[in-house]
Amino acid sequence: MKITIIGTGKVGGALTKRWVDAGHEVILGVRNLNNIKARELVTYNRKKIKILAPSEAAEEGEIIVVATPAHAAIDVGESIGIHRDKVIIDATNAIYKKPDPFPHATAALSEICQCRHVVKCFNCTGFENMEDPVYGKTTVDMFVAGDSEKGKAVAVILADDAGFEDCFDFGGSDKIELLEQFAKVWINLAVMQGYGRDIAFKLIMREDYKEEAENDYH
Ligand SMILES: NC(=O)c1ccc[n+]([C@@H]2O[C@H](COP(=O)([O-])OP(=O)(O)OC[C@H]3O[C@@H](n4cnc5c(N)ncnc54)[C@H](OP(=O)(O)O)[C@@H]3O)[C@@H](O)[C@H]2O)c1
Repeated sequence: MKITIIGTGKVGGALTKRWVDAGHEVILGVRNLNNIKARELVTYNRKKIKILAPSEAAEEGEIIVVATPAHAAIDVGESIGIHRDKVIIDATNAIYKKPDPFPHATAALSEICQCRHVVKCFNCTGFENMEDPVYGKTTVDMFVAGDSEKGKAVAVILADDAGFEDCFDFGGSDKIELLEQFAKVWINLAVMQGYGRDIAFKLIMREDYKEEAENDYH
């Protein structure tokens, strides 16, 4: 797939490397084409990563991933334009500042881009777990929320390609704020409670429930 990533910081950088390793092409949408982090990222795989302005990057990608501060979502939405049928994955968390008047970036991008397929995913764990989701014999899980089944199906594929074990359906758009709270639970444990950033969430299930859940979902 051709994946556009807006935001070439810690999250955008980690996901770029994982997806390129999985065979995808990544187009980095940046405000300044001389952006140093984006230029460094391109050197990871010059054949599969390129830099374009946000509007051109969004036009070219089949999927758009937003990994900027949440309050920048309005600016990002305006710069990438209208994308009614493309999947947009919002990886942001409004930790300090919301994209007012919207409660979160998912809502801002849905309205500004007039997009029916915005989902939230890749927000609830540290970027270190996106770089390496494997802890010995255990692999970290991911979670996705939103109303678009198409968006969730794409997020599940991309979570798998990024190396996460499972990507669980966290619910509809009414659960997006809860998924941001879930990210805050990770931050609380990692930072405030001092467990460090090498921690992650894993959903464990008794085998019979797991089979049932897998049959229901697939
Ligand atoms: N860090 C984590 O472990 C983590 C984990 C999960 C989710 N998140 C969430 O993911 C998002 C990104 O976090 P991060 O840690 O990757 O941040 P970061 O390292 O600070 O990177 C932010 C990126 O957003 C870009 N950006 C800012 N405003 C923009 C705009 N208006 N248009 C286009 N690009 C813009 C910046 O580009 P410039 O270089 O041009 O400023 C930069 O590339 C945040 O919402 C955060 O809450 C973070």
